[in-house]
Amino acid sequence: MNVDNLESPYNDLVKAAVKVKDKAYCPYSNFHVGAAILTSNDQIFTGVNVENASYGLCVCAERVAIMNAVSQGHKEFKAMAVCCDIKDSFKAPCGACRQVFAEFNLNMDFYMVKPDYTSKKITVGELLPMAFTPASLQEERV
Ligand code: THU
Repeated sequence: MNVDNLESPYNDLVKAAVKVKDKAYCPYSNFHVGAAILTSNDQIFTGVNVENASYGLCVCAERVAIMNAVSQGHKEFKAMAVCCDIKDSFKAPCGACRQVFAEFNLNMDFYMVKPDYTSKKITVGELLPMAFTPASLQEERV
């Protein structure tokens, strides 16, 4: 699927992820990642990966985008787009980020985007089958 075939705001979402990638702070991996998330009222928030000399503190672009949106009052999301430096294949998000997506919406569309703006869509539920979600905590206990 090419970004040119996507309707706005999905087109804008993909473009935002590609553009923000250049702002990644990744001096250790030199692996730039840009993420953009679309709220239920069609606002877009972005994020980049932010690394640290204490390597374990690195934070992925996807989670930075979500923290950015949540901290500005949003918690209903329709879609996310993520772009990294890989040229010839679509890269799926890490496991930690999948769990953070599942907190908000298993039906959220996730666009894996290449730097040439081509994209491939999958849902969070497909990325994380049998997810542990807020609903899990509501079930009857012993
Ligand atoms: N990274 C992301 O930002 N998102 C992912 O889905 C996978 C990995 C970042 C973390 C680290 O800064 C760099 O990419 C290399 O792992």
